[in-house]
Amino acid sequence: MRKRNMIQTLPLAGTLLLSAAAVQAEDVEVLHWWTSGGEAAALNVLKDDLGTKGVGWQDMPVAGGGGGNAMTVLRARVTSGNPPTAVQMLGFDIQDWAAEEVVANLNSVAEAEGWNEVVPTALQRFAKYDGKWVSAPVNVHSTNWIWANKKLLDEVGAKQPENWDELISALDKLKAAGYIPLAHGGQAWQDATIFDGVVLTTGGIDFYRKAMVDLDPEALSSDTMLKVFDRMTQLRGYVDKNFPGRDWNLASAMVIENKAGMQIMGDWAKGEFLKAGLKPNEDFLCFRMPGTQGMVTFNSDQFVMFDVGESKAQDEMAKAIMAPAFQSAFNVVKGSVPARTDVSNADFDACGQKGMADLAEANKNDTLVGSMAHGHAAPAAVKNAVYDVVTNHFNGGMDSQQATKALVSAVQDAI
Ligand code: BGC
Repeated sequence: MRKRNMIQTLPLAGTLLLSAAAVQAEDVEVLHWWTSGGEAAALNVLKDDLGTKGVGWQDMPVAGGGGGNAMTVLRARVTSGNPPTAVQMLGFDIQDWAAEEVVANLNSVAEAEGWNEVVPTALQRFAKYDGKWVSAPVNVHSTNWIWANKKLLDEVGAKQPENWDELISALDKLKAAGYIPLAHGGQAWQDATIFDGVVLTTGGIDFYRKAMVDLDPEALSSDTMLKVFDRMTQLRGYVDKNFPGRDWNLASAMVIENKAGMQIMGDWAKGEFLKAGLKPNEDFLCFRMPGTQGMVTFNSDQFVMFDVGESKAQDEMAKAIMAPAFQSAFNVVKGSVPARTDVSNADFDACGQKGMADLAEANKNDTLVGSMAHGHAAPAAVKNAVYDVVTNHFNGGMDSQQATKALVSAVQDAI
């Protein structure tokens, strides 16, 4: 049964007058975690676009990268029989919710709009369940990026690092000059975001796949994984003492405000730099985690439509999200790249153009892998098990050998 946004009627002097709600096609209630300045700016592009189509917006923000908090709120809403219209969601979570048979079928919009032909297969793998489109992908992000303050790097005589040793050397130079080398927020999902890149640079693409996607116990317990944890400890030596609990966008602000040299973070960080009026290559640099050039750990934000009965607004929203002009306008602001293969890169800045080229190249060379930290390598239970070990180790709760052991058993228990 349809629960939302019925055209309300007011009896007045024997007539039925349509209320204000009637002039609007319908509202969508949208659950999301886009609460930083850059994210809110991107969200406004979507809100405004829907506004022009007569679709109103009821905002339901739940902060927290990776969407863990948002998913907890969603569970409560669905359990109480009152799901939101549309929910920002990542990878395996989409599949898990689809399996519960509480999501809408978008096949008629998808067919009319030709989504099968333009959405990359890597994204369709998550957007479709049992042959049905259940979500509309709005972007492709990736996690193996570093965002650096160009002025500070120049000042301390550090060049853009190409490999791990050069990264460490740059961080040492920043430290010696009295800057915070690495801006970081100590939250499990942020630690895990760094971990994505460290696994990739340490073991390469095949190792990443074996360990993070196949969850192969041999890879998880290997000497390479031990080295990954050692490198996490090494990076821990470059963050400031106030890092625990800090939000990721406040870490970005430290780089923006010339306090810190770099941040290892997904390309949503670019949204903060742009919002602050900074320019790529002039004020900040974007480069792949040294040693991961040519490889991409991706995650794609998709809007899953929940089953709220026949809904014109849902169809409108799904259609609007996938429109090529919208995909360009939105992703230019968000820091991500389009979720369809036929969008021009003309309006994107240098980092966005690099993101698009990297994605196409990685897709072609089979070096495109799902981000563990952001729900595209393994289901939530495994992701959360990895979060626990990585964050415990990063905070000094165990040494690298203990962490390697704990990772194997935590993942086994979660499968
Ligand atoms: C999402 C991004 C978001 C980031 C930080 C990621 O999981 O994919 O869209 O900007 O979290 O909130």
